[in-house]
Amino acid sequence: MQQARLSVDPAFVVAPINRRVFGSFVEHMGRCVYTGIYEPGHPTADDDGLRGDVLDLVRELGVTTIRYPGGNFVSGYRWEDGVGPVQDRPTRLDPAWRTIESNEFGLNEFMRWARKAGVEPMLAMNLGTRGLQEAVDLLEYTNHPGGTALSDLRIRHGATDPHDVRIWCLGNEMDGPWQLGHKSADDYGRLAAVTARAMRQFDPHLELVACGSSSRAMPTFGAWEATVLEHTYEVVDHISAHAYYQLHGDDHASFLASAVDMDRFIDQVTATADHVGARLGSDRRIDVSFDEWNVWYLEELMDGRGGLPQDWTVAPRTSEEPYTVLDAVVVGSLLITLLRHADRVTAASQAQLVNTISAIRTEPGGPAWRQTIFHPFALTARHARGTVLDVRLDAPTLATERYGPVPVLDPVATYDADDGRLTVLVVNRHPSEEVSFSTSLHGFGGGTLVEAVVLADKDLTAVNTQDDPDRVVPREHPDASVRDGTLSARLPPASWSMLVLEVG
Ligand code: AHR
Repeated sequence: MQQARLSVDPAFVVAPINRRVFGSFVEHMGRCVYTGIYEPGHPTADDDGLRGDVLDLVRELGVTTIRYPGGNFVSGYRWEDGVGPVQDRPTRLDPAWRTIESNEFGLNEFMRWARKAGVEPMLAMNLGTRGLQEAVDLLEYTNHPGGTALSDLRIRHGATDPHDVRIWCLGNEMDGPWQLGHKSADDYGRLAAVTARAMRQFDPHLELVACGSSSRAMPTFGAWEATVLEHTYEVVDHISAHAYYQLHGDDHASFLASAVDMDRFIDQVTATADHVGARLGSDRRIDVSFDEWNVWYLEELMDGRGGLPQDWTVAPRTSEEPYTVLDAVVVGSLLITLLRHADRVTAASQAQLVNTISAIRTEPGGPAWRQTIFHPFALTARHARGTVLDVRLDAPTLATERYGPVPVLDPVATYDADDGRLTVLVVNRHPSEEVSFSTSLHGFGGGTLVEAVVLADKDLTAVNTQDDPDRVVPREHPDASVRDGTLSARLPPASWSMLVLEVG
């Protein structure tokens, strides 16, 4: 059996975890909003039409920040359509997803939902078909306490208190030719800069996210970030990154190593940002908002099998991925990578929350359930606390077609000095072999195992369904133990494990 050893010491720290890294995303896409978070008439819906069963699962998932309302949707969205008396709101075509948008759910409904879910809102604004004026209007409507036309309008709409949204995305994927109002890096950079400056005139403490690349595979990747940041470096805080991964054919090894791409993506974006900072002689540091990431069978969507193109229907079933065990393991390792970069990734949003590319699934009028990917997310959000430790891995490599040789394990360790808990999260990327894993706890003065779970299955294609919602759940680790100050476990092939210890 292959052997791997991890060195962990509380003295070596990457950075404190920014809780925003456990964010998610609600877009007006498919059934994420309609019959997802919002379904008046559902047996669990409250007076606002918000599904109570979904709210319960969102709280259990432990998400912290929710990006809204898009995505591609936002680049053609008029925020004014979604506020005020519902009967007066216009029905519109949404060209991004070729659907009909009733506008029954909009900004104030989302804010009410976010309050009930206990999450921080992160709003995206339309810099595709719209610009500076609409952006500052939206900001005034959303955040100004009162006494002006737009803030008083919000109050008349029933939202007496300002929403006080702190973090804003300046558009969405403006590098993508598919985006409504797609722009060159120069044009977008200029627009983002003037918009950011105007927003800061309103409130200098806002946190602003400029659009980075919609994938590391974009032909403009790198150059896009450099140009956009040349324009915006002094007025934004984050540059965004988006990445979706999928299994290609039966290449399990490459799929299990998807986080290698995410890792390189983050390193290259931060290097580019630092290079621009150096050229500009700036002492500011731009962080990464990884505000769309997940497993997504995008190729299937594009060739019509996932539901697109739609013909102007309302809330169709789009990209309702039935996530497998293998997908969940990959999601676990993408989270590990985000954590490992805690010094630069200070916000992230899994895309998306409900039904569309989601951790939570619902049926209209029916139940809500946890997809396989729900579990590594919920456990990571609950147990990865405090600081991320700078670990060293000594492990054999695994040959992959897409990424070359990669370490067979993908680990991260977090340490919460307040409650003396050390959490080790580790993925075995080997598709068919167990790996024996060990870590000395001597740097902590020893420790005891308080929780050890593994997500693995002989059937890597197993999924959770409405009829069998708990087919795939994390199980107790069969043989994790601490002996003589050393934590050890046999990690099954293609598995995600979480080992929580009380140390010291
Ligand atoms: O999350 C689904 C879509 O993926 C978003 O609308 C878009 O930003 C990205 O391409």
